[in-house]
Amino acid sequence: MGQIKKLEKLPPKREKIETLSILRQLSNSANVLGELKGIAKTIPNQAMLINAVVLQEAKDSSEIENIITTQDELYKALVTTKKQPAQVKEVINYRKAIFTGFEIIQKQGFLKVADIETIQKTIVENNAGIRSMAGTVLKNDRTGEVVYTPPQEKSEIFDLLSNFLEYFNIHQMDLHPLINLAVLHYQFESIHPFYDGNGRTGRILNILYLIINNLLDIPILYLSSYINQNKSDYYRLLNKVNNTDEWEEYILYILKAIEETALKTIDKINNIKELLEKTVNIAKDKTPKIYRKELIELLFEQPYSKIDFVVNKLNIERKAASRYLKKLEEIGILKSVKMGRETIYINENLIEILKKY
Ligand SMILES: Nc1ncnc2c1ncn2[C@@H]1O[C@H](COP(=O)(O)OP(=O)(O)O)[C@@H](O)[C@H]1O
Ligand SMILES: [Mg+2]
Repeated sequence: MGQIKKLEKLPPKREKIETLSILRQLSNSANVLGELKGIAKTIPNQAMLINAVVLQEAKDSSEIENIITTQDELYKALVTTKKQPAQVKEVINYRKAIFTGFEIIQKQGFLKVADIETIQKTIVENNAGIRSMAGTVLKNDRTGEVVYTPPQEKSEIFDLLSNFLEYFNIHQMDLHPLINLAVLHYQFESIHPFYDGNGRTGRILNILYLIINNLLDIPILYLSSYINQNKSDYYRLLNKVNNTDEWEEYILYILKAIEETALKTIDKINNIKELLEKTVNIAKDKTPKIYRKELIELLFEQPYSKIDFVVNKLNIERKAASRYLKKLEEIGILKSVKMGRETIYINENLIEILKKY
């Protein structure tokens, strides 16, 4: 059975979204997130951190939608211009869409409908845009049963989207942004404005919302790993709000996801920082002549590297770049693999860390 009632505009009734248990969980989630924001600032090169976290999220968020890839395939895709299998391409697109969204809000500080369309289009690579034909329904993967019917009329979709964006862009003074994030995510998924890509687009909107509200400076907190591990609850709770207008359990789920993923990300950052320091020391010690801070940072920005990258980053000749990479392999910092005619140098210690999360 589909839902009985029509999707309502925001905001929901306050007593439904700000209960005592929600407030209790909220303070934990907000504290850990604050800690994450602080720790992120201590990483000298922010691109390093963003790159590492964003690719992982692209993989995890796509996995929720059954688009499965490996980290190795993705990193390889980033170092070649070769045509990639569809699934790999879609994850690489997702990564690009996160950066696109981040640029948009850095530039203008708010979102328009067209921006959401840009993000979605970057992921799915088609121009279908907002749904204009009826017929889209959400089904239970396993049973095929229709669980939710989103608004069908184009005018209603636009109406709900503009209400959504008003809530998204205009600072809601009296409610905590993390509660709003949960509310907004539900609302976006329930409007389901596109034929496809709604889940992935909605999860990008979450990180943009954190940045707009100054809860983070850079896009490094993602809920997808938590959602993957608690996937049936994710669907069940979105559905529970559809059917019963009971928000508490769903909001608690999102707040818990924020707390857990923030803790994991803090741990990850600490590990990366430690490895960076260790790597710098080894390089300084064993190959003082070629040691350059930018070179080591490059291996953390792009854990799969190649001569061209070094040439561009350090502005040096190919021959020198090649010699540097070989030297770093000799002292155990990198490991080379052949990919077609090219040699790729992998920062395996970093990959090990990234794989853990
Ligand atoms: N009952 C529901 N109510 C609202 N949204 C739902 C419900 N069930 C699933 N969703 C959302 O729909 C998303 C899937 O929509 P889809 O357009 O296929 O996105 P994608 O292509 O990114 O997979 C899920 O990730 C989830 O966020
Ligand atoms: Mg889909």
